[in-house]
Amino acid sequence: MKAVILAGGEGTRLRPLTLTLPKPVVPVVDRPFLRHQLDLLGQAGVTEVVFSVAYRPERVQAIFGDGSALGKKIRYAMEPTPLGTGGAVKNAERYLDDVTIVLNGDVLTDVDLAEVVRRHRESGAAATLVLVPVPNPAAYGLVETDGDGRVRRFIEKPQPDQVTTDTINAGIYVLQTSTLELMPVGVNHSIERAFFPALLGRGDHVAAHVHRGYWIDIGTPEKYLQVHRDVLNGRFPVRVEGRRVDGGWIHEGAVVEPGAELRAPFYVGPGSRVSAQAEVGPDAVLASRVRVDAGARIRDSVLWEGCHVGESAVIDGALLGAGVRAGRHVVIGPGAVLGEGASLSDYSRTA
Ligand code: GDD
Ligand code: MG
Repeated sequence: MKAVILAGGEGTRLRPLTLTLPKPVVPVVDRPFLRHQLDLLGQAGVTEVVFSVAYRPERVQAIFGDGSALGKKIRYAMEPTPLGTGGAVKNAERYLDDVTIVLNGDVLTDVDLAEVVRRHRESGAAATLVLVPVPNPAAYGLVETDGDGRVRRFIEKPQPDQVTTDTINAGIYVLQTSTLELMPVGVNHSIERAFFPALLGRGDHVAAHVHRGYWIDIGTPEKYLQVHRDVLNGRFPVRVEGRRVDGGWIHEGAVVEPGAELRAPFYVGPGSRVSAQAEVGPDAVLASRVRVDAGARIRDSVLWEGCHVGESAVIDGALLGAGVRAGRHVVIGPGAVLGEGASLSDYSRTA
């Protein structure tokens, strides 16, 4: 069985971080997002994966190549212009077997995919959708089911008065590949708004698999920061590289000078340096080659590779893209998202 990962969206809600790096490869605790999804698929024994790409595909290819370095077989279904979530799956059809797993390329979960596939086969459904209950369903695709676990209706991005259930589409499907005959070729269309309603319309059995474990869509700054808090605090066990030290992770080759204070949980990546009197954590992620000068304080923030935080600067609740430079005594406050290479001169404040 093979999987398709929808990895072609522009990631507009994560701008400016996604202006240079497409969302499917933004780092989650210093590992490209899709590595975590490949791990999830690997747990279900799926090692052949089609990346359906449209936006900055070269960045994805440069990181994953043909997958052999990871023991996977990765193919690329390239879209000259974006085909939407449905068109993207159709465009990958030539690579697929009779049953296909489809994943949105921005969701992380601990759902047992092997179990979802097993129940899909048992039920004889044309498609099985993983659903999750969430507190704010209007931001997603609502899925109504009946008492037998059959899907009845989709309401993608409902108006507040259309919210009839708290179970949403988790962006994870198991499909009989033959159902793709319903999709037009080479035409932009939505799997949620067009394909699934069409399947229901012709009376196919669309099954629901409700997952009550961990699930997150990392596509907004708030959720992107949240997934880091969840991983650091052990609420979601994904693979993190590096040594466990005092409730955090320190990578080989990182330097923490005597007198620096690390407050758990934290992650200090390869080649990063935390100077004396600096404070890092709780909930701080320093990716590779981040430099934190004396007296700086970083908490509840994610800093991508090559950032430099000047003396006595304070960073709290922020996301910093690669190579951001924050001068001395800079204050970067909650909700700030700084794009690659941004530079803040000494004493600048964003809060
Ligand atoms: N290849 C390709 N081509 N991929 C695309 C395209 C496209 O034209 N458009 C979007 N994608 C990818 C995105 O990269 C993302 O991984 C996935 O499809 C879903 O797109 P989002 O833009 O993130 O959608 P959403 O989060 O607003 O809503 C979707 O996900 C929710 C769960 O997180 C829907 O599937 C909802 O129904 C669902 O609840
Ligand atoms: Mg999304």
